[in-house]
Amino acid sequence: VSSVLVLAHLLGFCSPVPGPSAAVKGLFSLTVRQVAFSTSLLASGAGHTGPFNTHTNLIFRHVFENIGNAYNPQTGRFTAPVRGAYHFEFYIYGLGHPSHGSGATLMKNEQLICIAFEHQPSHASASSNGVTLLLEVGDVVFLRQWVNTWIYDNTSHHTTFSGHLLFTM
Ligand SMILES: *[C@@H]1O[C@H](CO)[C@@H](O)[C@H](O)[C@H]1NC(C)=O
Repeated sequence: VSSVLVLAHLLGFCSPVPGPSAAVKGLFSLTVRQVAFSTSLLASGAGHTGPFNTHTNLIFRHVFENIGNAYNPQTGRFTAPVRGAYHFEFYIYGLGHPSHGSGATLMKNEQLICIAFEHQPSHASASSNGVTLLLEVGDVVFLRQWVNTWIYDNTSHHTTFSGHLLFTM
């Protein structure tokens, strides 16, 4: 009986409390407010990705956390489930090489937002970047490897991509 009453309240059949849309909206944003993912490039083992002769979308296959399931490890794409401010950060590790740097851009839909890039002839290094974006529902964020670069990863997880919902708007 009590659950029927709660449902009736949510659907607005019982007045005066609360406004139906406010109650449903409140429940909805509660369930989608928890969004945080953290990933690394390789699902297992060790190796280089690239170099490729064109910019190439990256798929981060190892998932540390995927709270809210907004990151898809089959496609590498994060899809915003709710309008809000999101923070993203990425760390791109590469071995030094005379003709290959290491780099990737963070993309919002097809728009280049920022890049992490380094190039040195030997040893190894990592570059990184981060940004906060206001995303609409359905906006997509992913990383795209820069042309003619290579990226290294192994089970120490040098190369990572993470994102978090800061707050809804
Ligand atoms: C991962 O790569 C780094 C840098 O090349 C290396 O020092 C480390 O031993 C590697 N770790 C594993 C578990 O393979």
